[in-house]
Amino acid sequence: MKRLAILTSGGDCSGMNAAIRAAARTAAANDVEMIGYRKGFAGLLKNDFLVLDTRAVSGVLQRGGTFLQSARSQEFRTEEGRKRALDNLLHDKVEGLIIIGGDGSLNGALALDRLGFPVIGIPASIDNDIPYTDMALGVDTALNNIIYAVDCIKDTASSHDRAFIVEVMGRNSGYLASTSAIATGAEFAIVPEVELDLTEMCHQLRRRYEEGRTNALIIMAEGVGHAQAIADSIKDAIGFETRVTVLGHYQRGGAPSVFDRLLGSRYGRRAVDLLLSGTKGVMVGLAASSLTSTLLEMVVNGGQKKLSEDLTRMADILGI
Ligand code: F6P
Repeated sequence: MKRLAILTSGGDCSGMNAAIRAAARTAAANDVEMIGYRKGFAGLLKNDFLVLDTRAVSGVLQRGGTFLQSARSQEFRTEEGRKRALDNLLHDKVEGLIIIGGDGSLNGALALDRLGFPVIGIPASIDNDIPYTDMALGVDTALNNIIYAVDCIKDTASSHDRAFIVEVMGRNSGYLASTSAIATGAEFAIVPEVELDLTEMCHQLRRRYEEGRTNALIIMAEGVGHAQAIADSIKDAIGFETRVTVLGHYQRGGAPSVFDRLLGSRYGRRAVDLLLSGTKGVMVGLAASSLTSTLLEMVVNGGQKKLSEDLTRMADILGI
């Protein structure tokens, strides 16, 4: 192979730059040119790319987000758009493409694979809901961001005897909420995968209040409902003064953690090695600290990764 390409698609996350850098440098070490399409599939549809030689990827490892930028392209979702993407890849003399992103992006990767183009996927989404990998890129950094913010909130919650509802990301996934609840010692994690029994939660909070615990922390995934409505119910049921904090996109940015820098570097290098050895149509992943590769077909058809019941149970037990 003489030329490979890489792009980042969907929601950005920390660690994407590490993966791009590792892919570009692994390609260079094999005398293969790497190009990067700007703004994901949108850039591919416009032949908008830059050459990623070793110098072009200097100084990006420690930066959050993606320096190639990202987008959610509607046009690429159409059959016509996908055919044009294939034409553009052939026009640009690209022989293999690495796609870094979440479920929608991996779906796009599978579409190109089905059109016969060599593609490798790299899982990246702070939601950690992609099957066939223990960890997607960006999850660890997002969790570190969350626990930093929640630790700050705990200080002020205890100074004022207040209950806080902290809303974290995860439209359909409670991974960030459960994991950060365990790591911050929160009383409750509210996740989309488990139906909320508001009366029971208020009952338990009241019991704790009567035992003398005058502040409380509840971490809620954004997909569950309206944080202010839950806060109002707690106020009415117990008398706690309540406040709501929505962490929002703060969670997705910032310098990548050591874990995400290493994971991105491993994924990026492995993706190039796979393409150069003739493997295509797979997503790289992590299982028990080792790198894996799984057919994109299985990843996309695997649906959303199931939240571990043990994780939610642990959040429940340790919050008591
Ligand atoms: O899928 C990753 C994610 O960060 C979700 O947790 C969140 O709901 C969504 O992206 C936000 O998307 P956008 O940045 O397009 O608002």
